[in-house]
Amino acid sequence: MRLTVRVWRQAGPDAPGHLEQHELDGLSPQLSILDLLDRLNEALVDAGQEAVAVESDCREGVCGACGVTVDGRAHGPQAGLPTCLQQIGAFADGATVRIEPLRSAAFPVVRDLVVDRSALDRLIEAGGHVAVDAGTATDANALPVPTDVAEQALDFAACIGCGACVAACPNGSAHLFAGAKLLHLAHLPSPSQERSRRARQLTAQLEAEFGPCSLYGECAEVCPAGIPLRAVAAVPHERLRARR
Ligand code: SF4
Ligand code: FES
Repeated sequence: MRLTVRVWRQAGPDAPGHLEQHELDGLSPQLSILDLLDRLNEALVDAGQEAVAVESDCREGVCGACGVTVDGRAHGPQAGLPTCLQQIGAFADGATVRIEPLRSAAFPVVRDLVVDRSALDRLIEAGGHVAVDAGTATDANALPVPTDVAEQALDFAACIGCGACVAACPNGSAHLFAGAKLLHLAHLPSPSQERSRRARQLTAQLEAEFGPCSLYGECAEVCPAGIPLRAVAAVPHERLRARR
């Protein structure tokens, strides 16, 4: 198949950006959007031009490193999939595809399609981690965890930290991400010892760096991990609980 790719080029954080147009032909519909960018970069390097900067790691939907905006939608047109698993067969043969960085004030552009998502790391530092001594693996195996608690923890641990929820939100809110981190750890035996501290610190950091949640629901629409919209309710719930 043949695609016209309009890709965002920006030399650095303070440089002006623009869309650059390229024609790519002989593409298999099974290629992912990252594969498409690889093809483009091979052509650019062969022509002695700068490759498009783009981030990726696992290319199988688990690391969260990838993430671009495709035709205005975070990750791409196929619901529930990260950029690395979006196949170009979703576009019509001969279509024009616009590829830009994830767009959010919290994620400044570093170069081309690469953005700085360290604001999410600062949320994890504030309250998305376990700081108590949880013992060794043997201790963990000796601590019974009810099945429903374990299943909830696993469901919310599925967040891959891609940041698509923030980019999709008209307010630039990170409530889906923050709620997933809070609910992941809230009821597990050892982490629950510091549940209130985590909630206080994480929600303070959330307010400092991200917009408010107005329940638009765009975040859950683009989430490749299937984090449900009810995760956003954990943010005010955990904050109020921590004040008791
Ligand atoms: S909640 Fe979903 S969209 Fe947001 S960072 Fe986690 S996996 Fe990505
Ligand atoms: S490259 Fe790891 S999730 Fe896409």
